[in-house]
Amino acid sequence: MCGIVGYLGKNEKKEILLDGLQELEYRGYDSAGIAVIEGDKLNQFKAIGKLENLREKTKSFYTEGFGISIGHTRWATHGKPTELNAHPHLGAYSYVVHNGIIENYQELKEELQNDGVTFLSQTDTETIVHLFEKNHKTNTNVFSAFEKTIARLEGAYATLLITEADPDTIYFAKNGSPMLIGFNGNDVYFASSDTPIIGKATEVYYLEDGEYGYAKEGEVKIFDANGEKTFNKQTLATDKVAAQKDGYRFFMEKEIYEQSQVMGDTIIGRVLDDRIYFEELDKDFFEGIYAITICACGTSYNSALASSYLFERLGQMRCEVEIASEFRYKEPFLTQKTLFITISQSGETADTLEALKMAKAAGMKTLSICNVDNSSIVRESDTAILTRAGVEKGVASTKAFATQSMVLWMLALYVGQIKNTVSKDIVKREINAMLHAPKAVQVDDKLHERIHRLSKRYLHGHGFFFIGRDVFYPLALEGALKLKEISYLHAEGYPAGEMKHGPIALADSELFTIALMPKSMHYDKIKSNVEELSARDATILAISPKPFELADDFIQTKYDSHPMLEFFEMMVVTQLLALEVSVRLGNDVDMPRNLAKSVTVE
Ligand code: F6R
Repeated sequence: MCGIVGYLGKNEKKEILLDGLQELEYRGYDSAGIAVIEGDKLNQFKAIGKLENLREKTKSFYTEGFGISIGHTRWATHGKPTELNAHPHLGAYSYVVHNGIIENYQELKEELQNDGVTFLSQTDTETIVHLFEKNHKTNTNVFSAFEKTIARLEGAYATLLITEADPDTIYFAKNGSPMLIGFNGNDVYFASSDTPIIGKATEVYYLEDGEYGYAKEGEVKIFDANGEKTFNKQTLATDKVAAQKDGYRFFMEKEIYEQSQVMGDTIIGRVLDDRIYFEELDKDFFEGIYAITICACGTSYNSALASSYLFERLGQMRCEVEIASEFRYKEPFLTQKTLFITISQSGETADTLEALKMAKAAGMKTLSICNVDNSSIVRESDTAILTRAGVEKGVASTKAFATQSMVLWMLALYVGQIKNTVSKDIVKREINAMLHAPKAVQVDDKLHERIHRLSKRYLHGHGFFFIGRDVFYPLALEGALKLKEISYLHAEGYPAGEMKHGPIALADSELFTIALMPKSMHYDKIKSNVEELSARDATILAISPKPFELADDFIQTKYDSHPMLEFFEMMVVTQLLALEVSVRLGNDVDMPRNLAKSVTVE
């Protein structure tokens, strides 16, 4: 996820910016850059890869005296991680950094290109700086030109702009992406989160959506739709690690709460009013393709398995899913009429990477769905679709699973559209549901509190069965995986209809069954499976929009109109349950024993 820093004052600016960016490293990035105006001298540096590369490029650059400066770490979403795509973006005499996504950037870009503006990057951000300079041409008041620019932006942004036209001032705006202003005497700091300014600023103001303004030496003005605002600063916290967690107890918890935001990022520009659009895929990408094989490990395998139902149902395309470590040695029969998809959060999982190499060697077309651009799996694939989840720190994967499942759902519908296997009504229904998905994963505080209270009843026993049918079966696998990873309790995911073929022998009051009972999919079937377990005295925690009288515990979900919305809402419930059980057992939620975030060995 991108990071922003800014500084206005007399101290050495390069070090303040680089230190600040270093503090944002934990969020992940693939390029970085800074721009400084001192007197009327403008300097700018960018580098791809790690911050050391930017340090190296700026090693003989120092600043002295009063000046203004902005910096950015970029996590690629629109366009590859290249120097040209790195921020700050330059107009003719101004620089901008931005976090978020400008949804109407194509429209703005076309308008500016028609005016003769040349774009250097593939980013949405570059439109801000050109639009500002266009507005400045017709309105010499810099602030009015900035105000006019912000008024045209749709989507999410936190942005800083500096310009030679007003070399003492930093202009800022926030809508939907975080941004704060730090204060220490006459020094003013900007950042996308607390960490870069802890130890530097003493007070802070967290900007609200719709606020914008400017900062000069000793003067910060903030405006919103009603004009200038008075604002109250607060004392800045001093604990950096706590600040990195944005106030949550664990990174995993933060990442569960972040899911709504990243799901929104995942669908932006891809789910349009009446169709799915992937700029990554050529028009003829699926030509000559009659089947799909997906290979992945762990959580990524679970999202793949869920998507296999969707590829067959929406895309009318045969879809097989393989665990990468099994696939590698089974001497698989591979054909060039099959698309080979790999799914990976890290893009570095050894088994998945090797499976991909095998598919390539067999001449198959390859596509990866990955969270990290430029990772080994992305580089090795013919084409990649990024999941846009931002860096995931908790070892137990949450938001990566959510965004993978989202991309795969979109891709299944995309295949249906390309192959003409879905009616307009179905497309409409799916798109409508997709647009609601970010809402379905929003964490409700009351629900979290309820799961916290209920979790105390699930700290013992001889095991958990998570059960579900259809896409809720892979979700059951994922729920069980989450729980066992961080609680160290035995948990298994099972297709509900399969219980009576053996596992039901384990049923007794010390066997906990987590039943995923969606209303919009096979409700009566799963209900009778759960009744069979209840008759054997199993303890049942039912998760459903419909009250279920045989449940020992019941979590009522809200969505009941579309299976995938139920899927995502129930996903959050299972993640929170695993989290709360683990916390009660005193385990290290973010770094569970025996596990690594990226498994780069076979
Ligand atoms: C579970 C988890 C692992 C990973 C697996 C694959 O929470 O994180 O099961 O999903 O190791 O990793 P990636 O997706 O990076 O290939």
